[in-house]
Amino acid sequence: MSITKEAELTGMKKASEAVAYTLKKMRDYARPGMTTKQLDDYGAKILSGYGARSAPYLTYGFPGWTCISVNHEFCHGIPSDARILKEGDLVNIDVSAELDGFWSDNGSSFVLGKDINQYQQLVDASKQILHKAIYSIKGGVRIADIGFLMETEAKKRGYRVIKNLTGHGIGRSLHEEPSEIANYKDRFNLKRFKKNAVVAIETFISTDSTYAETLNDGWTMVGNKGGFMAQHEHTIVVTDGPPLVLTEMNGVWAA
Ligand code: CO
Ligand code: CO
Repeated sequence: MSITKEAELTGMKKASEAVAYTLKKMRDYARPGMTTKQLDDYGAKILSGYGARSAPYLTYGFPGWTCISVNHEFCHGIPSDARILKEGDLVNIDVSAELDGFWSDNGSSFVLGKDINQYQQLVDASKQILHKAIYSIKGGVRIADIGFLMETEAKKRGYRVIKNLTGHGIGRSLHEEPSEIANYKDRFNLKRFKKNAVVAIETFISTDSTYAETLNDGWTMVGNKGGFMAQHEHTIVVTDGPPLVLTEMNGVWAA
C-alpha cells in the first residue's frame, strides 16, 4: 500500500507493533525442551491480546499462528507438539498479522542458547545485510539494485542467497505490489521503490542452497542443496531519506 493519510500510518504502526512485540517476546520465551507448538501458543496469546489475527492463517489457511522453522527447515515451519527445541538450534520465527485491516510482517533467525553448532556467524550476516539493504532504500531506488547489494554482501561473507524467496509489498493484505523484492539482481525487474510505499524487506542468506523447496507437509521449505538459512525481516515505509522501520520494536538489530 501507499500511505496517503495519517490514519493509514497510525493503522500500520499499530499492526506493526503487534507483530514486532510478539516476535520479540517469543524469542525471549523460547527455551530448550519447549515444543514449537508451545512457542506458537504463547505468540497467539500476545497477538490475540492486540486483537490481531494470524496473516498466514487468514491468507493461506496455514496451520498455526506463526511460522517456526528449525535447523535445516528454512521457512514456513508448522508449529508442532512433536518438535522439541534444543540448545544450539537455529530457530526462525516469522510473525505476520492483520489488525483493523492493516497487515504487517517481521521475522528473525536466532541461535537458541549457546551457539554449540556455530550458526551465529550466519545469523549475524543476515542481520547486517538487512540493515544495509534497508538503509539503502529510498524513493526512486531500483529494486534490483537492492537485490544486487544483498547478494554481494552475502558473497563477501562466504554465503549464498535463496532466489525463489522474496520480500514484498504489504499493508492492506499480506502480499501486495511490488510482489518480488529479490535477494539478487533480477535484471527483469525494472521496478523502483516508491516514496510512501509500505514494503516488507527480508533476507534469505544460506550456507549451501540457492533455492527453497516445499516438503510433503505442503508448507515447510528446505534448501535444494541442504545446509542452513537465516532470515531477518522488517516492514518499512519508503521515504526520501532513511525508511521508517515500522517493526523496529522487534529488537532484531539489538538481539
Ligand atoms: Co514477508
Ligand atoms: Co514474514
